[in-house]
Amino acid sequence: MSKPKVFVARKMATEALETIASATEMELWAGELPPPRDVYLQKVRDIDGLLSILTDKIDAEIMDASPRLKVVSNMAVGFDNIDVPAATSRGILVGNTPGVLTETTADFAFTLLMAAARRVVEGDKYTRRGDWKTWGPMILLGYDVHHATLGIIGSGRIGMEMAKRARGFDMKVLYHDVVRRKPEEEAALGLEYVPNLEELLSRADFVTVHVPLTADTHHMISTREFAAMKPTAVLVNSARGPVVDPKALYEALKSGQIFAAGLDVTDPEPIPMDDPLLTLDNIVIAPHIASGSVATRTKMANMAAANLLAGLKGELPPNCVNPEVLQK
Ligand code: DGY
Repeated sequence: MSKPKVFVARKMATEALETIASATEMELWAGELPPPRDVYLQKVRDIDGLLSILTDKIDAEIMDASPRLKVVSNMAVGFDNIDVPAATSRGILVGNTPGVLTETTADFAFTLLMAAARRVVEGDKYTRRGDWKTWGPMILLGYDVHHATLGIIGSGRIGMEMAKRARGFDMKVLYHDVVRRKPEEEAALGLEYVPNLEELLSRADFVTVHVPLTADTHHMISTREFAAMKPTAVLVNSARGPVVDPKALYEALKSGQIFAAGLDVTDPEPIPMDDPLLTLDNIVIAPHIASGSVATRTKMANMAAANLLAGLKGELPPNCVNPEVLQK
């Protein structure tokens, strides 16, 4: 029997690629840059499975160009790049990679928080420019993280890992979400639920965003929200770029409405080199690498491979966002 055909849209951990290659006829896109859209449309023409990454827009056009497609396995926990209803209506399973990146992503979000608060990147630039002439009582002062108040927006896995890290810094932890966690979970992590977003923003010294990108969360942090924040506040976004309105963020940072920001995600990605945010010193911007540890990216690739192979066999992928496809 011939093996199923798959397109793997980017290089990833060798062990995952070997697993896929042993069970399928695999085509791998070896370039670092994504396949151009017309090439992508051509690559999916006669495949049974697709392993995509979070920058690949997998919409109805791609699905219609791929009549045999049974499974799209996205190497990411987020799947806002995939039109899931379009996949479901075509009987295509969609897999993602939750859980394995939680702690690594929270580590990095906390790194951004500290880097922005304590002006680490500014300090590095200052040193390299040769501006470090002396120790000075007022040079590059930032804000303390310990004993400050952290406001977590979104109480999923990564948000809760931020709460754990905050406890190590003796922070007070507030959180906001549409759904409140159980009282015992709040007690275990020392969390205070704040149902009103503006109240959380006005009380927090650090605000960290951990919500998926949906129509409801698009530009969830914009002019009104920045106006509610403290002038000493630091905003961290390691979720999805469009959750924060970039124009409003620029105005808030430029005018001193907030102190600083740390971003792992931007809108758009990659951030254009003429984006005004890049002219500011009080922002740290990383190129979407919060889950980027060797171990975690290997686990994500292995999980994506497992989802892909299960879907090809007509089985439920271990992590599937539209299991109803098999229940029809
Ligand atoms: C994800 O998996 O959605 C993350 O953004 C990758 O870092």
